[in-house]
Amino acid sequence: MRTTSTQPSTAAAAQPAGDGATWWRQAAVYQIYPRSFADTDGNEIGDLKGITSRVPYLKSLGIDAVWLSPFYPSALADGGYDVDDYRDVDPKIGTLADFDAMSAALHEAGLKLIVDIVPNHTSDRHEWFREALASPKGSPARDRYIFRDGAGSDGSLPPTDWEANFGGSAWQRVDDGQWYLHLFAPEQPDLNWNNREVCDDFLTTLRFWSDRGVDGFRVDVAHGLAKDLSDPLPTKAMLDESNDRHDGSNALWDRDDVHEIYAEWRKVFNEYDPPRTAVAEAWVHADRRARYASPDGLGQAFNFDLLEAEWSPDEFRTIITKNLAEARDSGASSTWVLSNHDVVRHATRYGLTSVAGDHGDPRERGKQWLLGGDDAPTLDGALGLRRARAATLLMLALPGSAYIYQGEELGLQEVGEIPDDARADPVFFRSRGAEKGRDGCRVPLPWTRDGRAFGFSDTGAHLPQPSWFGAYSVEAEESDLESTLALYRRALNLRHRLQTDETLNWVDDAPEVVHFTRPGGWRCVTNFGSEPITLPGGDVAVVSGPLRAGMLPPDTTAWLA
Ligand code: NOJ
Repeated sequence: MRTTSTQPSTAAAAQPAGDGATWWRQAAVYQIYPRSFADTDGNEIGDLKGITSRVPYLKSLGIDAVWLSPFYPSALADGGYDVDDYRDVDPKIGTLADFDAMSAALHEAGLKLIVDIVPNHTSDRHEWFREALASPKGSPARDRYIFRDGAGSDGSLPPTDWEANFGGSAWQRVDDGQWYLHLFAPEQPDLNWNNREVCDDFLTTLRFWSDRGVDGFRVDVAHGLAKDLSDPLPTKAMLDESNDRHDGSNALWDRDDVHEIYAEWRKVFNEYDPPRTAVAEAWVHADRRARYASPDGLGQAFNFDLLEAEWSPDEFRTIITKNLAEARDSGASSTWVLSNHDVVRHATRYGLTSVAGDHGDPRERGKQWLLGGDDAPTLDGALGLRRARAATLLMLALPGSAYIYQGEELGLQEVGEIPDDARADPVFFRSRGAEKGRDGCRVPLPWTRDGRAFGFSDTGAHLPQPSWFGAYSVEAEESDLESTLALYRRALNLRHRLQTDETLNWVDDAPEVVHFTRPGGWRCVTNFGSEPITLPGGDVAVVSGPLRAGMLPPDTTAWLA
């Protein structure tokens, strides 16, 4: 066995996990999608009091922090990522007083709180957008957004051929004939970040939540804010071409000047003790991710590479090595994600057969499975869950922070059987059903084996829960020592004790085995092969599935400590 080592950055080596200003570096962060977590007032939508009531559950998991997806007033055109007011709580899910009570309960339990911030676009019900619509062309109110005259002799064509992320044109026409830009749904008009009032207002919002005790921010579409909209506007083909260059020259995405915005934000974060943290949701080329994670900027950026990877030892090894090196260079720690509210759950992704139409992309495979039909991938749920458990245990042994999406600790599968008339995701509507969208990972959590809404609510659930949910409920899994919930609890609680500095040493075993050690004699071994393997010496502290005659079976991870 040969070992190779990653070098710790000086900052990382000096900082034990979980302390003061560096708590985030190796934190396990649990993502709550508030509307689907726990409903206490019977309106079928999860609420902040529901989260407060489940703080003991959150604490028992062994996580360090909670990240709340948007909870702001919203018409839910995009699940809350269409914000009416950045400094309030949606009355459907609570009040500011509920927020304070929830924040106090989390903090009392020793958990940090990260909130989602959505700066690329507001909702079309935001007071600024209403004012823009009521104001004339060229007015200061319109300048907070991106309005343009249309093309064609009478301006009846969109200004450009750009497509929105959820499908259709990226431009929407208003009553006086002008068009506004929306890179997502029409209900999400893009803000103009060249407008000083927009910049200042977000600084106020960051202070508003920081003053209320929020520990950090997850920044939505962090790579989209800065845009070069000088005339002539590029065509879609020109955008695509510059996108492939990854050099900051694209007019809409990942421009270098976006970091001027985050440098200002960092000054606000550093007004607090400990400084507020931030993590960028930036779908950029891996080579450019470090810019978002710079200590002078947001400080950390999501790395979605594992979420996009096949179940393959080579891919996992390459991704881990590359990301640890990148994180070291940027001064940040790495982030690891297998599931979130935008993708098919990993217990399902790992159980799908590959088909020609998925182009070797597991996320695409998930979408094809949701669509169904003769050529769709088929699902082996048991295989998917076995691999998901192994992948999670591997992820939790890595240096850096790990993001866990609500329900994955129960081993939940994606819900495929949502009738079209119950769907809520704009992806489904804007693509005219060509994509099913993201509702299947947003179905309200099952807390009890049976009963109305499986304990999510006394009345019902805003997305239909399938009958098999009961078997994955917290109640069912609490009493089962082999459950996925028990595995997450064991691993997360142990991780607290085991995480020290941010180094990892590779151990070269067979090609189908991913094996590394962490300081203090902690070792993680994953068998990606098809035959059981002999484990190295040491006590097995956690294992993602039962050992076979003392050997590590296929699709299984063990920690030895
Ligand atoms: C990324 C969020 O994760 C997703 O849910 C949302 O639809 C888009 N940003 C637009 O805000």
